[in-house]
Amino acid sequence: MLKLAVLISGGGSNLAALLDACDDATFPAEVTFVASDTDAPGLAYATKRGIPTRILRPRDYETREAWGDALATAIESHDVTPEAGLVVSAGLMRILPENFVERFSPRLINTHPALLPNFPGAHAVRDALAAGATETGATVHIIDAGVDTGPVLRQSQLHIHAGETETELHERIKAIERPMLVQTVRDIANGVLRLQ
Ligand code: GRF
Repeated sequence: MLKLAVLISGGGSNLAALLDACDDATFPAEVTFVASDTDAPGLAYATKRGIPTRILRPRDYETREAWGDALATAIESHDVTPEAGLVVSAGLMRILPENFVERFSPRLINTHPALLPNFPGAHAVRDALAAGATETGATVHIIDAGVDTGPVLRQSQLHIHAGETETELHERIKAIERPMLVQTVRDIANGVLRLQ
């Protein structure tokens, strides 16, 4: 059984999709810990199931590295190791510090609301609309030392509707992002996808 730690910042619909998948006893992974960088509403999906959660705010630490160490220690204390576990950044709106990435990558993945390498960064949906793109989508990738630059594991595409708002488009992206993330975790757990 693959042990997962999930990192979030907001509503947590991707976390909820993972938790729903894990409710099925045949799913080959389980979420043992959820962390956030802020008081994220999505933490409630975990607490409702009795899964431990923790808020670690970067501003409470002297350096980004100290925050990274605290996050890594909290994750490892919930049985998610860099050797056999998996850390899933599912809506964490922070760049993880280098020491954290070095510790967990490649067993550290992120879901991003665009077809990388197009539209990296925190405003991917807005940027796709502003660029006049007609297609966009979602990407699950390994986190490496760059911002949204790591090896792509899965992508899913959709057509942008004329006149669509950022919120409408992001909701449609999230609808394809959630099952893709769940499938990616399943494939990693089953050894179908190898992280290296
Ligand atoms: C997702 O689209 C994710 O790719 C992006 O933020 C969104 C998080 O949504 N980084 P949710 O909190 O999982 O609902």
